[in-house]
Amino acid sequence: MDLIRNFLGGGNNGEEPDAKRVKREDDDSAGAANGGANGTSTSGAGGAGGAGVEGKVDHLGQYAMREIHLRKQEEDGELVYMVIKNDGEEQNMIWLVNLKNIFSKQLPNMPKEYIVRLVMDPRHHSMICLKNNIVIGGITYRPFWRQNMGEIAFCAVSANEQVKGYGTRLMNHLKEYVCDKENMTHLITFADNNAVGYFQKQGFTKDVMMEREKWVGYIKEYDGGTIMECALSAQVSYTEFPVMIRQQRAAVDEKVREMSNSHVVYPGLAQFKGPAGPGGVRKPVPPEVIKGIKEAGWEPPGPPRYRLVHPGCGDGTPTTENLHRFMVALVNLVQNHIDSWPFISPVPAEEVPDYYDVVKDPICLETIKERVESGEYYQTLEMFAADFRLMFNNCRLYNAPDTVFYKNATRLEAYFESKVAAGISWKAGRGERLDRI
Ligand code: ACO
Repeated sequence: MDLIRNFLGGGNNGEEPDAKRVKREDDDSAGAANGGANGTSTSGAGGAGGAGVEGKVDHLGQYAMREIHLRKQEEDGELVYMVIKNDGEEQNMIWLVNLKNIFSKQLPNMPKEYIVRLVMDPRHHSMICLKNNIVIGGITYRPFWRQNMGEIAFCAVSANEQVKGYGTRLMNHLKEYVCDKENMTHLITFADNNAVGYFQKQGFTKDVMMEREKWVGYIKEYDGGTIMECALSAQVSYTEFPVMIRQQRAAVDEKVREMSNSHVVYPGLAQFKGPAGPGGVRKPVPPEVIKGIKEAGWEPPGPPRYRLVHPGCGDGTPTTENLHRFMVALVNLVQNHIDSWPFISPVPAEEVPDYYDVVKDPICLETIKERVESGEYYQTLEMFAADFRLMFNNCRLYNAPDTVFYKNATRLEAYFESKVAAGISWKAGRGERLDRI
């Protein structure tokens, strides 16, 4: 992989065989002999994914944005991630001592001697994060070559550098490294109960799917810890998530564009500019002139499938005039009902301060009346009935079922629906049941 390059000029100096091809024979001997971790940096400039990072970064989630920022720091050389072990190299020893100090501080329940023993044990490797050449965190793990599994012993980031994404980046570099260089298929750890959330965010689960014989008896158990596993995939580039996410999103977008025209955006309607009239009424726009509406599958509605049988609605054909008469009659009936008093005018915000926090689309009989009187707002009986239903639903949303308002809404709604139903006669086809506008 392009990203993996040797560090300190030494790199794996030929001792680490191509892990993808070599079958490890023995945990200890192979691990020790192969060296495994001789200061191999997994970060740095260049790299396959670099080109994408500078490109378009909008529409990416917070996670990807943070990763891009951290990757930029790596490209600038400010941050370096590498795997080292106690191999006698002076610099590696210094870094391991620094890392040991971070672990001792961040894992106060772990005996310091025990931390020293594992960090300095040549069978353990450590992925460290250097910020301006200072160790700010790391993960110490032990590869079990035969099982293609790595056991994370300690993981910590120094206190003043936490919650900046370094812990995630460390884990991603570790996954990439062990997958690519050490042929591992799983990471396993006894996570401190306080850190279970962190490990879950890194893709670890409490269900260990690896065969028991691969790990039971091999890994160290701790009190107050939870065993967690992360399965690794060689097909995933763990340090290039933003690039992968962008590529996947582009692929999905392309597929969606083939199947839909939802990406075509037309300018908004000029009719919605400027203030509306009373009741929020604006000059109606014939739907057929709205750009894109036909492409979206809209078809002009056929003639209404009902007749008006309410007294005073002309010959009963649902023309604009007859519908208007019916709507005026319905508003009057509802307004004169004994339960209508809470719905006459808008709810006063000064008396019910949180009403408009809860009810985002308020409406009252006054508004409905203004809309009817405009003669233009309600093009259909369905639109008219929808406002009434919104009014009753708003009331039941804000008020508890045992309140007088809630009960009024339910009774008045039943009255309204009964008057609508009584005022129309459906022209239903055979077998159809059309009983509600
Ligand atoms: N519990 C729950 N979530 C956490 C924790 C935690 N203890 N720590 C970090 N997170 C979350 C972060 O909020 C963040 O969430 P986001 O991606 O939704 O924004 C995500 O995990 C990753 O955060 P990072 O900033 O990448 O992680 P950070 O640099 O803070 O490092 C670490 C995390 C290593 C756990 C650090 O907080 C630390 O050193 N803690 C003290 C030592 C510790 O508990 N180590 C683990 C012990 S278990 C073991 O070593 C096997």
